[in-house]
Amino acid sequence: MTRACAILLSGGGSNMVKLVESMAAPGHPARPVLVMSNDPEAGGLERARALGVATGAVDHRPFGKDRPAFEAELTARLEAAGAELICLAGFMRVLTEGFVRHWEGRMLNIHPSLLPKYRGLHTHARALEAGDAEAGCTVHEVTPVLDDGPILGQARVPIRPGDTPEALAARVLEQEHRLYPACLRRFASGQREPLYLS
Ligand code: GAR
Repeated sequence: MTRACAILLSGGGSNMVKLVESMAAPGHPARPVLVMSNDPEAGGLERARALGVATGAVDHRPFGKDRPAFEAELTARLEAAGAELICLAGFMRVLTEGFVRHWEGRMLNIHPSLLPKYRGLHTHARALEAGDAEAGCTVHEVTPVLDDGPILGQARVPIRPGDTPEALAARVLEQEHRLYPACLRRFASGQREPLYLS
C-alpha cells in the first residue's frame, strides 16, 4: 500500500513538480493526494492541477496572528485528503509547535543550505558573505525548532568565483530537484539513514 503524500508550497513549486513526477515511478512507496498553499495565487497550484493533482489553499492572511487557527484549517484539509506524509516544498510560513508535534515523524522539509549552517532566510547571500567554498541543500524531518530536525539528505554545490546569490540559488535548486525525490522515496519506504549526494 502506498503512502498518501501532501505537499505544501508558497511559490512556484518546482520542487513539488519533481516530487509529483517522481511518485509516478512504478513501485514508488508514496502517491500525491493534495497540493496545498497558504497563497491562493501561488504558481505551484496551477502546476499541480496541470499534473492532475488535487489542490487547495488556506489563505493565512484572514487569520492574522492566529497561527493555530490557520494551522487547524490546514490540518483539517490534510486529514480530509487522507494525508499520511507531508512534504514542505518552499512553504514559507513558520509553523507552531502544536502543528509540528501533530505531524512529527511524518513531515519533511527542504532547506537551501547545508544545515546546521544558515537556518532561516537569505541562505545563499550568507554563504557568499562568509566566503564559504561550498553551499547546498538539506532535506530533514521537521521538528519544532526552525530548520532543525534529523537530516535525511544533503547535496553539496561548489561556490564559484564571482557567484551571485541568484546564480548560486539556481545551481542549488538543480540539486534540490535530485535530492528531494530521492529522500522522499527513502523516507516513505522506512529508511532513515541520511543520503549524501555530490
Ligand atoms: C526552494 O529553494 C526551497 O529550498 C526554499 O524555497 C524554494 C522553493 O522553490 N525553501 C525555503 O527557503 C524554506 N525555508 P520552489 O517553489 O521552486 O520549489
